[in-house]
Amino acid sequence: MKATAVAHPNIALVKYWGKLDSGRNVPAVGSISITLDTLATRTTVTFDEGLAEDEFTLDGRSQPNRIDRVSRCLDLFRELRQETGFARVVSDNNFPTAAGLASSASGFSALVVAADGALRTGLDRATLAQLARRCSGSAARSVFGGFVELELERATKNTTIRPIMGAEDWPLSAVVAVTSVAAKEVGSTAGMELTERTSPFYAAWVAGSENDLTVARQAILGRDFEVVADISEHSCLKMHAVALAARPGLVYWNGTTVECMRVVRRLRRAGTAVFFTVDAGPQVKAICLPADAAEVASALEQVPGVVDVLTCGLGAGARLVADDS
Ligand code: DP6
Repeated sequence: MKATAVAHPNIALVKYWGKLDSGRNVPAVGSISITLDTLATRTTVTFDEGLAEDEFTLDGRSQPNRIDRVSRCLDLFRELRQETGFARVVSDNNFPTAAGLASSASGFSALVVAADGALRTGLDRATLAQLARRCSGSAARSVFGGFVELELERATKNTTIRPIMGAEDWPLSAVVAVTSVAAKEVGSTAGMELTERTSPFYAAWVAGSENDLTVARQAILGRDFEVVADISEHSCLKMHAVALAARPGLVYWNGTTVECMRVVRRLRRAGTAVFFTVDAGPQVKAICLPADAAEVASALEQVPGVVDVLTCGLGAGARLVADDS
């Protein structure tokens, strides 16, 4: 009753922000992302009849504040398999947790794949992605590698998660400028709820998403970097605009975040194919062609306040690995 899975974070090019149904965690908009390599969560799930409750350790420390969310995710498996008891979940990230590096995406996708493996449930990827989506919307996309879309059918509140194309079909690099390793003050779930409730721009954000998704999907399939760059920066800045207009306004950036965004735009004006995107945290992700990754990384390293620069390629979806690997 034990299995280990590895999963990678993903970066949304067309962002998810807001919920259509918070009970079932149905997003208010579809989204498109790239799954990374290099950064990874490794999770071992052991169902153990001797346990009186679920246990969760992350990076070697027990996590009383996070155990409820992990248990709710395991409950989805207990609903499928009534006789299933409690589990010990041991997880390790090779990057800072909860600082806008999509740790919940890699974390919950690794968790569902490991739980499925431990219970020998044998669920297919699409079903695993649905379960991951229930635990954290962005986690659904990390079940698959490469370019991934979460489609929403608004009328039925149904979602479909599927790959658009593989990592090898259009290798890109993501250069992550880490501007702070502190955990963010307002997590995505609470930030979305506040935005929905108080931002005057929320309806416009939701209304614009279908068009952004269509443009991005076609540009990805056509490997049109300029259009992907333009629509991705637009979606990112719109997401932050709607969150900034909440009350109290959500400011996920610091001064270094803004400076990194300027540097990326300066590089682009000078002819380098690169664009930025920023999630619910202060890190800047610069997406570029692999041939330009070293130049982009060195430009970001020179920005005062940048504490680390990590370069990733595109990677595979969440998968089982040997327990001792
Ligand atoms: C800004 O997936 O963390 O990264 O479903 O409430 O767990 P929950 O939210 P989460 O939100 C991610 C928001 C984002 C954009 C994105 O990844 O699409």
